[in-house]
Amino acid sequence: MLDIAFAKAALPKSGVLAVPLAEGAPLAGLAAALDLALDGGLTRAMEAASFSGKKGQSASLLAPGAGLKRVLLLGLGKDAPTTRQAEELGGAAQAALVKETEATVLADGLDASLAAHIALGARLRAYRFDKYRTTQKDDDKPKLAEFTLLVGDPAKARAAYEPLAAVADGVELTRNLVTEPANELYPEEFARRAEALKKLGVKVEVFTKKDLEKLGFGSLLCVGWGSARDSYMVVMQWLGASGPGDGKKAKKPKDPIAFIGKGVCFDTGGISIKPAGGMEDMKWDMAGAGTVTGLMAALAGRKAKVDAVGLIGLVENMPSGTAVRPGDVVKSYSGQTIEVLNTDAEGRLVLADVLYYAQQRFAPKYMVDLATLTGAIIVGLGHEYAGLFSNDDGLAEKIIAAGKETGEKTWRMPLAPLGEAYDKNIDSAIADVKNIGGGRAGGSITAAQFLQRFVNGKAWAHLDIAGMAWGDKDKGTTPKGATAFGVRLLDRLVADNFEG
Ligand code: BES
Ligand code: MN
Ligand code: ZN
Repeated sequence: MLDIAFAKAALPKSGVLAVPLAEGAPLAGLAAALDLALDGGLTRAMEAASFSGKKGQSASLLAPGAGLKRVLLLGLGKDAPTTRQAEELGGAAQAALVKETEATVLADGLDASLAAHIALGARLRAYRFDKYRTTQKDDDKPKLAEFTLLVGDPAKARAAYEPLAAVADGVELTRNLVTEPANELYPEEFARRAEALKKLGVKVEVFTKKDLEKLGFGSLLCVGWGSARDSYMVVMQWLGASGPGDGKKAKKPKDPIAFIGKGVCFDTGGISIKPAGGMEDMKWDMAGAGTVTGLMAALAGRKAKVDAVGLIGLVENMPSGTAVRPGDVVKSYSGQTIEVLNTDAEGRLVLADVLYYAQQRFAPKYMVDLATLTGAIIVGLGHEYAGLFSNDDGLAEKIIAAGKETGEKTWRMPLAPLGEAYDKNIDSAIADVKNIGGGRAGGSITAAQFLQRFVNGKAWAHLDIAGMAWGDKDKGTTPKGATAFGVRLLDRLVADNFEG
């Protein structure tokens, strides 16, 4: 893990420096001192490299003098940088300097919050999952271990970084869960990992297959019929607003925000089996649940003043002699019967029961679910935006705003009231509802309409993160692989709207 430190601003006499510079502004503070120490070498290098400080611009100077090994110039742009831009800059610095052992950022010209967000960006970009590597050569390993920011007020910057470090911990937990292969992370093991949140003060309840049978979770459970692994649900509660109670009488969350995650630990498609090519991607079909778990860790880790509950449905979708068949009818926890016409449309079957349970038990103010639900959302939005579906305009706007702030962007998609054309497509001939309908057209909307049948009119948003949970290339603050999309988005949603 990248070690982050904040120190009093003074020009280092050796090592590797990263220098954020605004466009069109004269050099000031430590950057001006650096230019002086280099006899105007910084100014000359900026000219020679045509470095003007444009947003995203960078230039690297090797052995520039004054005992320094390397100076990396990073453009901040003309306008006052946002926290997101600071994160991107931190990510860029980490990526450019990964082969150095330590780096120091001249952040004396930036306020404590921006310095803290540079640190967050660097730490997020530095994430690696090396658990299963045994033969990697030292030369191929990253070396950057110490990342120091020189600031005017180190105590203030450290205080600003503390909650961000908790969010980074949550992101890393999510990325670890999402990256794990399905032979290691099956429902029971996932539940065990969620139980580790107890040490952060989160109340964690694990519902076994037997418990879920007693409750009548016929929709969630049918997805796991074909698997040798049992299905589970985990309920996590963080009572940051109403307090954890006195130990004897545990308090109940008051008007909580509920987060619900799809946790399909592997999705073969079941009897409606998927083609072989790319099926390995379906190890990350539990990203919704992984994100909810990391989010709960983030909220608890930074002691967010909110009552939040996280509920995850954990299953494995396998074909076998005991698997659910196309045409089977199951009874959901809501009482509605479901005709399962395609066993590969399983995420919605899992969420149906968990969504209904969440609103029955907790009467949440808002429910937000996350799911790698449809390939169709990738066709529609690609890998830039998650699909956002909501029956509540206020909630949708809050999520969109939080997305702009964190760079985890969402795009609002249509959702029809009950009875309208999109919804009619899932009326079943022999049961209350069927799990597919309308053909390939508008597949992400069909899925959202199905979920809405289990929302009971409560304020709710659904994020289809199928295009966002995994990245094929390094990008900003997310190295390729599991992104943990949604942890920072929903942490910010809470911070901006539901605390204090
Ligand atoms: N987990 C998949 C969706 C998915 C696809 C996620 C690609 C990430 C990348 C989901 O369970 C699924 O199989 N959906 C089907 C629905 C169809 C059968 C109506 C799909 O998208 O093809
Ligand atoms: Mn599927
Ligand atoms: Zn799936």
